[in-house]
Amino acid sequence: MAKAERAKPLIMNFAIERGNFQLAGEASSKIKGRLLQLGFPGNLIRRVAIATYEAEMNLVIHSYGGTIEARIEPGKVTITVNDVGPGIPDLDKAMKAGFSTAPEEIREMGFGAGMGLPNMRNCSSEFRIDSVVGKGTTIKMVIS
Ligand SMILES: Nc1ncnc2c1ncn2[C@@H]1O[C@H](COP(=O)(O)OP(=O)(O)O)[C@@H](O)[C@H]1O
Ligand SMILES: [Mg+2]
Repeated sequence: MAKAERAKPLIMNFAIERGNFQLAGEASSKIKGRLLQLGFPGNLIRRVAIATYEAEMNLVIHSYGGTIEARIEPGKVTITVNDVGPGIPDLDKAMKAGFSTAPEEIREMGFGAGMGLPNMRNCSSEFRIDSVVGKGTTIKMVIS
């Protein structure tokens, strides 16, 4: 039995801090490393890595902090992202390619192209985003 075929889901959890560019990218790179170890196909690993990296950067840049959970099952990875605010007032607008509220100093760092959410959706087999202003944002992505 290949390692990726293990029956029990493997869960990885990460706390992501607002503004912590030092640690940004750690969660996505650890998840990617584990999937490589488990022998998942390259195309699936690439989609998980992009989607998780974009989610992670959004927590660092736009949120007050949050968590990322990866649930790894045979042929399927579920990424759940939760944060504690500020929430997104207009989800349709936020999902549009090129829309960004990133301030100038963030753009100078090379972020804020407004492609994160559209990329996450494109990389996902199932994508769901819910947001409540003043409460927070939840994203669930299934990549299979
Ligand atoms: N976790 C979040 N909390 C609050 N706002 C968010 C969050 N994620 C995304 N947004 C909003 O959605 C916009 C679009 O996000 P995205 O497509 O990743 O582009 P970018 O990060 O380059 O601005 C952001 O500029 C921000 O206004
Ligand atoms: Mg982004």
